Formats: sequence, C-alpha cells, structure tokens
Amino acid sequence: MKILVLGPGGREHALVRTLLADPDVTQVDAAPGNAGIAAEVPVHQIDANDPEEVVALAQRLGSDLVVIGPEAPLAAGVSDALRAVHVPVFGPSAAAAQLESSKVFAKQVMTVAGVSTAASVHAKTAEQVRAACVEFGAPYVIKDDGLAAGKGVVVTEDLAAALAHAESCFASGSTVVVEEFLDGPEVSVFVIADGTPDGAVALSPAQDFKRIHDDDQGPNTGGMGAYTPLDWLPENFTEQVLDQVARPVLAEMDQRGTPFLGVLYCGLAVTTRGIRVIEFNARFGDPETQPVLSRLTTPLGQLLLAAARSELAERPELTPRFTDSSAVAVVLASPGYPGTTRTGAVMTGIADAEALEKVAVFHAGTAANDSGEYLSAGGRVLAVVGQGDTLAQARQRAYQGLELIHLEDGQYRTDIARRAVAGEIQLP
Ligand code: AMP
Ligand code: GLY
Repeated sequence: MKILVLGPGGREHALVRTLLADPDVTQVDAAPGNAGIAAEVPVHQIDANDPEEVVALAQRLGSDLVVIGPEAPLAAGVSDALRAVHVPVFGPSAAAAQLESSKVFAKQVMTVAGVSTAASVHAKTAEQVRAACVEFGAPYVIKDDGLAAGKGVVVTEDLAAALAHAESCFASGSTVVVEEFLDGPEVSVFVIADGTPDGAVALSPAQDFKRIHDDDQGPNTGGMGAYTPLDWLPENFTEQVLDQVARPVLAEMDQRGTPFLGVLYCGLAVTTRGIRVIEFNARFGDPETQPVLSRLTTPLGQLLLAAARSELAERPELTPRFTDSSAVAVVLASPGYPGTTRTGAVMTGIADAEALEKVAVFHAGTAANDSGEYLSAGGRVLAVVGQGDTLAQARQRAYQGLELIHLEDGQYRTDIARRAVAGEIQLP
C-alpha cells in the first residue's frame, strides 16, 4: 500500500513513522513535510491546501490512500477533490470539517444531537459580548468563530481583556462565541470515523497542555505537551465518549447528508455534571498524536484505509489496541511563540536524544541547511516523546531527551504530566 501524508508538522511526522511500521505499507510520501520527515521518506513541495495540486501528486504517485493531517486542506476541499477522482482519502469533506472550522456550526450540531457542551452565545457586537460575559460570569471564555489553530480562544478573569479579544476578532471580520466556563480536567479523545453510523472506534485518551508557561500560565498555544494514557479516568471512559458524544454527532452529520469520515477529535472537560464538549476538531491533535501513536499496536495504514473505505464495522480486528506503556511528549518552541517568533537558529543534540532508550524526536517546524544541520523554522519546533513502563519513567525519559537538545532561547514547559505522576488529578 502506498500512502501520501499531507501536512508540515509533528503530527505528520508521527503519522509517517507509524505508517512505515505497518507491514502492509510499502511506501510513504509526504507533502510538504519538514526536515525530519524528509530524512525518512520522499517529500514533495506542493501547496497541500490546493486541491488540484494534491490530486495531481496523488495520481502521479499512484497513492492507495491520502491521509490529511492539518485542518487547512480539509477546509479547502482537498478531501472532496480526491474523493471525486476515486482516490481513497482519510479526512472529512469541507462540509463535515465545519465541525472544527465553525464553532457556531459545531454548537448547532451538538444541540440537535443532544450532546452536552458549555452554554454559549454567538455574538456579533461588543454589546452582545459584554452582556454574555455578565450573564455567564468570570472566568470569561471568548472564542473566534473561525479557524485559529487553537489560538483564537481567550480564557480570562479580566473583563477588559475578554472584550479586547472580541474586538480583535471583529476587526479581522470574524464573529465570536462567548461561553460558560467549564471546570474539571481536559481530555482529548480521537475517534476514527468511517462515515457510516456504525463505523467509529476510539484511540487511547490523552491530555494536552495548551498554555505556553508552567502551571497553565500565559496565552494559549497549539499545545506544549501531552501524555497518555490517563489512569485517573474511569475504565469505560472511551465507551462513554463514543456513546454520549461521538456516535450522536456522527449520526447527526449523516442525517444532514454530510457524513464525517476522518478523525473526530473530541476535546472534553470532565466536570461535576459529567462529560462536556469543549470543542471538536476534524483531524488528529498535535502534539497528542505523537505519544498516542507511539503506543498503538494496530497497523495504522490498514486502520485508516479501512476507515477511508467505510469498512470499519466489518473489520473488528482493526479496533485500536495499545501497549501497556505510558508516553509523554514535551514540545520545544521558538523564542517568542505563540507571538512573533525568532527562527533560523541551528539546533544540536537531536541525534543524541534519539539515541536514548525509548526516546523519539518528532520534528515540527524544522529545516536542514547544506551541512545537514537542523534549523528552527516554526513556532513549535519539535516534540520529544519518552515511553516507559510507568508515566513517571516516560516523563523522565522525555525530559532527559529534551535536555540534550539545544535551541537558543528555546521554550518548553517543565511540568508536562507532573500532576498526573504525583496523583494530583482528581475528578470532580
Ligand atoms: P478550544 O479552541 O475551543 O479548544 O479552546 C482552547 C482552550 O481554551 C481549551 O483547550 C481550554 O483549555 C480552554 N477553553 C475553551 N473553552 C472553555 C470553556 N468553556 N471553559 C473552560 N476552558 C475553556
Ligand atoms: N493539541 C490541540 C490541537 O491539536 O488542536
């Protein structure tokens, strides 16, 4: 099986590596990829958001499956264009990807499907925002309605900051969603959906760290670290998520004539009143994918191809299975991230980190120079994943790896999975 992976980040690096480990996969190509991906498979410098360019590449390569990593190609209709020429694709149509690209759309679907989420108001003016903030009380949650790579959300106790964020969304032509604040720990669950009402399976839950600084301080980022599994969740948690969240939403998407085929990323809060949806994404999460796939024992290429062919219900042997180990990912980011970043710095120590037992480095924003050195080339530069028999061991290995890597003024959190290791995460 020949697979083409679209996207430039750490998630795609993990997808590429995990696909290469599937015995049925004979070739993996990537577009555009990054320097780490290019060290493992052929990369193609096309515009992965351009449906025509992607179709032409997939046809030239004779791809048996295209796996779409990020949200932008989904919203641009790349999946629709591939399906129109009968290239199997893992990733939803542009219509179905609105579950991620529009917060308002996602809320409407959840309401009809009877899925619990935070109470919210769709606001188009500053007055509406202020009124909703007063209604819900602090902390205030203000979300840009459009795609913002996880950075369009401000959660703050400061009403002036909440209003200022809403103004900046209006200024860029967007509207905002004001929400009730959800307490309780956050969980990411990736549901692999094959576009039929019975074809949905879940991967092992993970927890993501969204803020830039330790102790959840500072602005939101795309994600600064993650770990899996979450031993503080009840045993049947993924079944609950499938029953209470994923299946009702997938059934409603089917009902609307826009079936969802791809990853339904359920961003959840486990609150005193039960599981609440914070957000949906229409793709694998980054960086959660890096540790989650590190533990997957089911052949990923076969799983995603069966989903692309809407055959999951007939293939119970592909129900995702995981090793008993734990995995922790810590992201190294450029100075300035998530604001204006400084890139182009030479990095050292990546090979040393990878030489450690049970340590893997996934590249995100990297480039290589003529001497074969790696340079920083993006906000999030790489993720170091440690695996271990215990979460504590996995965490220790991730940080040991990270300490060998040098990026001038690079930023990383020192507290990824710390509270879970200390047994401090309690369900309300
Ligand atoms: P989103 O892009 O909707 O996932 O929001 C990004 C982050 O903001 C989430 O991962 C949460 O940490 C936080 N957040 C979003 N909505 C809420 C909410 N209603 N209550 C509490 N925190 C939230
Ligand atoms: N880690 C959060 C996301 O991928 O959106």
